[in-house]
Amino acid sequence: MTRRHSSHLGSDDLPGRATLAGPERAALAEEIRRVLEQNWREGEREGVPYGYTCPSPGHYPYQWYWDSCFTAIARSSYDAARAREELRTLLRAQRPDGFIGHTIFWGQRIDAERARRYNVVDRDDHTTWTIQPPLIAWAWEIVARRSDDDPSFAGEALEPLARHYDWLAEHRDLDGSSLLAIVQPDESGLDASPKFDQVWGRRCCGQPGFLLLVRRNRRLGFDARRIATQHPAEHVREVLTNVLYIQGLRALARLGGGERFADRADRAREALVRDCWDGEAGLFWDLAGTEARPLRVNTWSSLAPLCLDSLPEEVAHRLIREHLLDDAEYVTPVPIPSVAATEPSFNPGADVGRFLVLKLRRYWRGPSWVNTAWMLIPAMRHLGYTDQADRMLGPLLDAMQREGLREYYDAGSGEGLGAVDFGWSGLALELL
Ligand code: GLC
Repeated sequence: MTRRHSSHLGSDDLPGRATLAGPERAALAEEIRRVLEQNWREGEREGVPYGYTCPSPGHYPYQWYWDSCFTAIARSSYDAARAREELRTLLRAQRPDGFIGHTIFWGQRIDAERARRYNVVDRDDHTTWTIQPPLIAWAWEIVARRSDDDPSFAGEALEPLARHYDWLAEHRDLDGSSLLAIVQPDESGLDASPKFDQVWGRRCCGQPGFLLLVRRNRRLGFDARRIATQHPAEHVREVLTNVLYIQGLRALARLGGGERFADRADRAREALVRDCWDGEAGLFWDLAGTEARPLRVNTWSSLAPLCLDSLPEEVAHRLIREHLLDDAEYVTPVPIPSVAATEPSFNPGADVGRFLVLKLRRYWRGPSWVNTAWMLIPAMRHLGYTDQADRMLGPLLDAMQREGLREYYDAGSGEGLGAVDFGWSGLALELL
């Protein structure tokens, strides 16, 4: 794809049309409900009941932290009871000290192959020892707003939620900056994103060396402070993680968790804007290691602060005008790509070669994901870019209607890729 590098706010070149027609919307909504019902898993483990949406039956059979938050949000518009059960289940996986893992194994022990690859210490572990973006309190608030049938839901879990966010501050704010650090790329939820290449190199997700990284961190007990002390270049204050942390802290304060969470959110937001915003580039960068080296790769997480309700307006408009609406960067035929098309690493189909008949892909290196649209499209609408937002969304909805609920879509052709019947693509319900 050759692209002209120019900002064309309001131009007619934006792809797609505004929205699906009525019957098509209804059919897509119906398909989303079918997938979410099909992926629902419930049962009991050692006397603890569980109910959650697995991201994709064959590919991802367990409970993933942020997937569960996304699917609870998607489901809450028509079945708030199950949405509440999904979030309660996530909290039931909490350790007494407040930690909640990235992946939780409810119904089945993990197999031996996954036990090597996953961030567990032992095959019998009930959860991984790593984190995912801390979305739970924000999801809790959204679901609570739709819970007229259970008004006590909003306030029923303030203590464990507070314990969770306290754990994050204590164990992941490594330098007192108020921002959280991750110690492996997959903790961001954006596993193989090219922004991590310069930190972990051949030990990035989707590379053979990733197993070595897991093995090393396992030896260090997945203890972020130990890891950062022994390997000072290998932790990242990652933008998306902190955006969802700030949103979570604010939601927790609004739910009644206490003013200290609102104060913490303010401090984290100030630190994000002070330390991660690059006024010259007009983008937010992750900061790597003790030296706080900016990772200057233009990916959608550089735009993620747009969904903060407290971002300075001028910063928000710059993100949209100079980047999100730049046809060279984010206005691909099927937006919103996970990496700007101007980046040398941009790979719209995430295709990295073949192994026998299998096509190998490393995700988060170009294709478009529905959770990205869920975070950025409402922000565009809120700031007055309604028409442009609809026209960015249109081609993605068309691709979903054609290809079904896939994990991600080729940012050029719209081909559905990755896991099938993928739960969080159901977030489209929130955007229709
Ligand atoms: C992939 C994604 C991660 C997601 C998981 C389950 O690993 O990168 O964000 O949580 O799949 O869907």
